[in-house]
Amino acid sequence: MDYKDFFEQSIENPDGFWAEQAKQIAWYKPPTQILAKDGFGHSRWFADGKLNVSYLCADKHVADGFGDQTAIIYDSPVTKKIERISFYKLKDEISRLAGGLQLLGIGKGDTVLIYMPMIPQAVYAMLACARIGAIHSVVFGGFAPHELAIRINDAEPKVIITASNGIEVDKIIHYKPFVDQAIEEAMHKPQFVINFERGHGADKQERPYDVDYNDLIEKAHDVEPLPVLSYHPLYILYTSGTTGTPKGIIRDSGGYATALKFSMKYIYNVEPGETYWAASDVGWVVGHSYIVYGPLINRNTTVLFEGKPIKTPDASTFWRVIAEHKVKVMFTAPTAIRAIKKEDPDGVLMKKYDLSCLKYQFLAGERCDITTLEWLQNNLKVPVIDHFWQTESGWPMLANMTGIELMPVKPGSASLPVCGYDIQILDVDGNPLPANTEGFVAVKLPLPPGTLTNLWRNNHRFVAGYLERFPGFYFTGDGGYIDSDGYVFITGRVDDIINVAGHRLSTAAMEEVVASHYAVAECAVFGIECELKGQRPLGIVVLKMGTEIEIRRLESEIVSSIRYSIGSVASFREIVVVPRLPKTRSGKVLRSLMRAMVDKKAYTIPSTIEDTGVIAELESIFNERDFSKMCK
Ligand code: COA
Ligand code: AMP
Repeated sequence: MDYKDFFEQSIENPDGFWAEQAKQIAWYKPPTQILAKDGFGHSRWFADGKLNVSYLCADKHVADGFGDQTAIIYDSPVTKKIERISFYKLKDEISRLAGGLQLLGIGKGDTVLIYMPMIPQAVYAMLACARIGAIHSVVFGGFAPHELAIRINDAEPKVIITASNGIEVDKIIHYKPFVDQAIEEAMHKPQFVINFERGHGADKQERPYDVDYNDLIEKAHDVEPLPVLSYHPLYILYTSGTTGTPKGIIRDSGGYATALKFSMKYIYNVEPGETYWAASDVGWVVGHSYIVYGPLINRNTTVLFEGKPIKTPDASTFWRVIAEHKVKVMFTAPTAIRAIKKEDPDGVLMKKYDLSCLKYQFLAGERCDITTLEWLQNNLKVPVIDHFWQTESGWPMLANMTGIELMPVKPGSASLPVCGYDIQILDVDGNPLPANTEGFVAVKLPLPPGTLTNLWRNNHRFVAGYLERFPGFYFTGDGGYIDSDGYVFITGRVDDIINVAGHRLSTAAMEEVVASHYAVAECAVFGIECELKGQRPLGIVVLKMGTEIEIRRLESEIVSSIRYSIGSVASFREIVVVPRLPKTRSGKVLRSLMRAMVDKKAYTIPSTIEDTGVIAELESIFNERDFSKMCK
């Protein structure tokens, strides 16, 4: 069968298509209902099916005789360690930690927050929760205590699992003290914090809620996986929205397991037993789906890489990992490749390794510029595939489905719609647009299995944010167009979300922090072009009348508060002070106009602008600055 037929089947007969795919995973009770509705009227996949995702990731492979196969290769250039963890050991570790969680009173439906670096214990923690039906919420380590506190308040975890520290190149990041600070700030107080001590001399202050990870598993007994219904939440994953409050994406169990198993075969084209590597972090959706759940469900060996594309120790590290662990398929963000290309423009380091094991290189997380894609393709000499998805979807929405038919790569396009996703480009009134016409990227309902089922305790925001704008469709928040061959080109977000080094961040959250500085009367934060990270935030500030403050001091105070409130991952480094902001007559700040001015793009002055005089003022201020220097 070819891609076109396969795709059409999935759209014309979603029930039949996904019923077949659901047979590819092991259920305690196979589903008889395929697509139903929940109490809110949203799709519910495989409603009466029962399964356990930790069973699929570990026990099943042991039961099938693959206990000795390596499940996880923990490759940590920052600690100079490589550890191979078999499916036997994985099963052991997760069933023991699950027992430990039970000792602390955790059971089905309880939430557990995980704030950990890229170490095997992070994977054990996720799977241990899944084993007993607890719902995990992993928070990326680059987020500061305040962001962590926001997530603690929303998810209300009974327990937090953390580690003493992470390592960023050669810098120790003190995770446990961040957790303590977040708990101090949060209204909700977890009962216990399980801390995995890494022995790197990180700061630690004993707290009454502390539980040592190793002590806990020593006391615990192994527990068996608990069968749960397909729609039982496996996890909540917070992602940036257009307000300062993140959105808690809810992922189900059965739909997700089915979709991931499907994607490993038909998108990534990896067979059980082969090695797959997603160079991301467990704190992001890529880490959830393609470091942990997807490869483990598919019995792939997954690489857990605690390092960076450069500096750990140099720009050859990705190629060393691929060659050493015989990686068949790799997935990373374009920004990582741009960082490597900058250090090794001629691909000299790449040539030192035998990369013949690598069959496909996938890229996602942000728009991939054509130069980067072509550079990689010319050097690696394998298909380099830009594919597109979101925290919300949980797995690719656009991709080259290499496992069914390798389609030609069109640089600049994030490829073709994946089975189950009826992608359409709509105009502002929700009418479908013809080929090559830019509009809003939307997906006709129903969404396929594995996609978000709702927002944690916030159905109103789910409906308002995704379903109301275009009735009958899910709205991605992205703009784009489809060419006459059906390839989709994503042109960027149409809201105030920015993408910094593949990390999705809210400018609204940053504006809240900038606006809280005593000297700031008004401000705007938006993303500007960055050669390395794709985008980076820039703060535009209007000072309160009569305030005297040295600009450098103001900048450094604002930068520090963003680091403290949101985290270093925001890469917020620069502000510009202006006498006033450009606004419409109704008072809306014209961020996209300022962004175009800074990026030196063509712009039209909206007819609704309050005062055209502001344009000349801003032009002269922006022209004096070299905004590219922060990207180098
Ligand atoms: N824990 C704590 N801090 C973290 C962190 C983590 N897990 N990840 C990043 N940070 C910090 C960094 O230490 C840095 O802090 P600093 O400002 O004090 O130096 C800051 O956040 C920005 O980090 P980063 O975005 O990694 O930028 P960089 O300039 O250090 O490195 C790249 C540039 C391109 C090498 C890096 O951004 C990268 O590897 N990008 C790929 C990211 C990726 O895979 N994204 C895919 C998500 S699907
Ligand atoms: P996240 O939820 O963090 O995975 O971010 C999802 C957003 O990243 C999408 O809505 C897009 O704006 C952007 N994105 C992800 N992949 C791509 C891609 N291949 N091309 C363009 N933008 C992308």
